[in-house]
Amino acid sequence: MGKIHVFDHPLIQHKLTMIRDKNTGTKEFRELVDEIASLMAFEATRDLPLKEVTVETPVATAKANVLAGKKLGLIPILRAGLGMVDGILKLIPAAKVGHVGLYRDPKTLMPVEYYVKLPSDIEEREFIVLDPMLATGGSAAAAITSLKTRGATHIRLMCVIAAPEGVEVVQKEHPDVDIYIAGLDEKLNDHGYIVPGLGDAGDRLFGTK
Ligand code: URA
Repeated sequence: MGKIHVFDHPLIQHKLTMIRDKNTGTKEFRELVDEIASLMAFEATRDLPLKEVTVETPVATAKANVLAGKKLGLIPILRAGLGMVDGILKLIPAAKVGHVGLYRDPKTLMPVEYYVKLPSDIEEREFIVLDPMLATGGSAAAAITSLKTRGATHIRLMCVIAAPEGVEVVQKEHPDVDIYIAGLDEKLNDHGYIVPGLGDAGDRLFGTK
């Protein structure tokens, strides 16, 4: 079963409270999501493997560490996942960015892919799928399936807020995927919104209604 990591760092929790506030406007909301994504990436990458190298400092030769594992790929789920990309790239500038676009079929209510563009070296990368809101889990599970179908073997999911229903769906469909979140909320309401949540993350990021 994939692990669920809830980041309780005070800076993350403080900023999370600010984006929940309905009076936080678009500019501030976007900046805060960017900062939360950076802080979450810092926490979520604690386990990346290192290897020892030697480096010449101006004073002496030093043994020091550099990243050793797979290269990283970020996969924002369109559109709200885009709000998390730049914050993570600030820490991991060499990461490649793929995109997955999904819509929900109004008849079957199942997610349907309308856009997928991934880095070419899929097998060599560890992917972090990004979506600020893990609600029903349908889109996240479908995006992960889409990556796996194309050859991805190492995938993590990073969301800002999750509903228990979404966590359950992803854990069931993708038991190999760890989930990183800042807040685990109470439930989904009848309209598919996370309660208490923060409303529609895409609309709040991009100033749409
Ligand atoms: N997507 C959102 O943006 N917000 C929710 O509450 C649920 C899904």
